[in-house]
Amino acid sequence: MKIFVTGACGYKGTVLVPKLLAAGHTVTAFDIMWFGNFLKPHANLTVVQGDVRNADQIDLRGYDGVVHLSSVANDPCSDLDPLLTWEISCLATMRLADRAMRDGVRHFIYASSGSVYGLKDEPNVTEDLELVPLSEYNKTKMVGERVLLSYMDRMTVQIIRPATVCGLSPRMRLDVAVNLLTMQALSRGEITVLGGEQTRPNIHMDDITDLYVFLLDRPDVTGVYNAGFENISIRQIAEMATKHADAKIVIKPSNDPRSYRVNSDKLLATGFRPKKTVEDAIREICAAYRAGQLIDEDRAYNLRWMQQTVLNKAA
Ligand SMILES: NC(=O)c1ccc[n+]([C@@H]2O[C@H](COP(=O)([O-])OP(=O)(O)OC[C@H]3O[C@@H](n4cnc5c(N)ncnc54)[C@H](O)[C@@H]3O)[C@@H](O)[C@H]2O)c1
Repeated sequence: MKIFVTGACGYKGTVLVPKLLAAGHTVTAFDIMWFGNFLKPHANLTVVQGDVRNADQIDLRGYDGVVHLSSVANDPCSDLDPLLTWEISCLATMRLADRAMRDGVRHFIYASSGSVYGLKDEPNVTEDLELVPLSEYNKTKMVGERVLLSYMDRMTVQIIRPATVCGLSPRMRLDVAVNLLTMQALSRGEITVLGGEQTRPNIHMDDITDLYVFLLDRPDVTGVYNAGFENISIRQIAEMATKHADAKIVIKPSNDPRSYRVNSDKLLATGFRPKKTVEDAIREICAAYRAGQLIDEDRAYNLRWMQQTVLNKAA
């Protein structure tokens, strides 16, 4: 298939694109490249530096599918400039979906977020629960979802609500929970945990990217799906990290006791199976760091990098 991937040079996209190529797809990787471009050249890969807000300049004729990953990709970054966030993460999603529909694209995959539920007391946060988004980031994802659902009669729409992703990528993020705590253990020998009892859902990078490849072969799977397979506390993540990196855990009081969890039984019912765990991610990060392949740099922290470069505001 011929696939158009937005946000293709991001943390997830940089792992996803080679998997799509390996599966035999022809890929156009489209990204504004805020964090650079770490994709390796390939005969079936075209890399385009562009802004998804310019939907009029995106020609999707001849494409079979779109995997839409581009957004202002976390809460604090989305708060930096809410108007920019809504334009990129929501308005552009609507215009891209419209472009796709008009250009005859049959398949649209959207990276939403498990955070659209907001705070939930239910032990099983399933797709049918009410969405109570708390931040600009969550709100743009929720509205983006609603827009895409309105195109379901015109193309296959698959909306994924991923848990927090963990693990390695050539475009590394160290601002996501597991990666952050593991890097603290490795580079400082100490992990600072605020509270620690807050539960967070997690998914390994290999599983979330395998899922997008899987979904392209499964147009029968439509609608909204959670994707997170380990709901564990921050303290458990820290303990796992210290098992693999010699470090101590310092617990400090937290004024944010929020817990999030997701239930992914609906996704499992499609036949998809995760293959990796949080502990795998920690082990892989430790090995890459010790091999000198992983650097603790500002680019790996979206907020810091956006403040310094994209928005040109001093951190
Ligand atoms: N990483 C996670 O834990 C996680 C969890 C749930 C959902 N998601 C979602 O998955 C998607 C990918 O996340 P990620 O972790 O790879 O984030 P990322 O920040 O590494 O990647 C996002 C990419 O989008 C690009 N981008 C931003 N604005 C653009 C624009 N106007 N035009 C074109 N490209 C633009 C950026 O340059 C970046 O490469 C995001 O939509 C994010 O909200 C991520």
